[in-house]
Amino acid sequence: MAFDFISARVAEKSAAGYLRARTCVEYEKDGIICVDGAHYLNFASNDYLGMRQHEGVLQSWVEGLAQFGAGSGASPLVTGYTQAHAALEGYLESHLNRDAVLLFNSGFAANQAICQALLKDNTRVLADKYMHASFIDGALASQAPFRRFAHNDMSHLATLLEKGEGDCLVATEGVFSMDGDVPPVSELVSLCQTHNAWLMLDDAHGFGVLGENGLGTAELDGLSQHALPVLMGTFGKAVGTAGAFVAGSQAFINYLINEARHYIYSTAMPAAQAVATLYSLTAIAAGDERQKLFDNIALFRRLIKDSGLTVAASDSAIQPVLTDGPMQAMALSKALRERGIWVPAIRYPTVPKGTDRLRITLSASHNEQDIRALVDALQLARDTL
Ligand SMILES: Cc1ncc(COP(=O)(O)O)c(C=O)c1O
Repeated sequence: MAFDFISARVAEKSAAGYLRARTCVEYEKDGIICVDGAHYLNFASNDYLGMRQHEGVLQSWVEGLAQFGAGSGASPLVTGYTQAHAALEGYLESHLNRDAVLLFNSGFAANQAICQALLKDNTRVLADKYMHASFIDGALASQAPFRRFAHNDMSHLATLLEKGEGDCLVATEGVFSMDGDVPPVSELVSLCQTHNAWLMLDDAHGFGVLGENGLGTAELDGLSQHALPVLMGTFGKAVGTAGAFVAGSQAFINYLINEARHYIYSTAMPAAQAVATLYSLTAIAAGDERQKLFDNIALFRRLIKDSGLTVAASDSAIQPVLTDGPMQAMALSKALRERGIWVPAIRYPTVPKGTDRLRITLSASHNEQDIRALVDALQLARDTL
């Protein structure tokens, strides 16, 4: 039979406890999801601020639909680029102090585009070991010599930087997606400047949450375009819509418009989505959702400490609970589900082998009772294993 490897691979994953399956959500409201007719408190969403259900975001999307229609109808270089896209780009340019911004349909596409356009056979790329798959795969698919430095290990990065010459891109994340920790930003900036390397930040999980206006790590740490030549952020997490952007110098963005195949050969983000995204960003800057999230994180950390349970060190909305392997991670996730709590088990290859975990994500839409219910359920689930 042709393609025999398909069933063999699935069977192998299943036997090792690594088989993946989807969950079909019937609806979601106020942090509660309905699956197979049962309701669960959702601690698995990247909607850190509850913006997905924000009335103003929904309303502005509807207004965008009335003005621009459902889809964008063409790629951006044909007729898919509208005033709505330009307005969103303009907001990000002025608030992030960047020459130019380019919108992408997803963070995955943006990372792939950065790699495809920038990584030539004479460009070196050094990425944190925990960098997201969308960047790693883009770097692996390029001709560029690619090395990964140990997670947040600046002396390892310095050693790698000293070894080579020529153009070099150093890539890391603003808030690490599976661990919730952050990189040593000022050390990264100074190492890159010393070695004349470009620093790139994938701020998928910091954007929307951190900084004075919620514009992420670059805003929080006051990172100029010079210090951070390549900034990527996504709208599908804290901003509550979908899509992504890349920000940088005018020359860099002009280059991407001409060279990035994921931009040139893909139908543009629907304009209505850009309208809703811009609304969400302004609402985040003015609203109290971020403070609610920070209060929830502090409450969770305090209750966990009192309970004697251990979670990894993280001050972000992402709170990982490490387990003894994929089977235990699955069993804990199931035990929580039986108590009305939805937390997924995250297993290899999403995280390194041996670091299978529960990935708890907190949101501004949770209340104190929800967080207490989560910690109680975690304690009970641990005790019954
Ligand atoms: C760190 C990081 N980068 C990029 C992406 C991809 O973004 P998107 O979901 O918009 O494709 C994700 C999504 O999971 C992510 O966590």
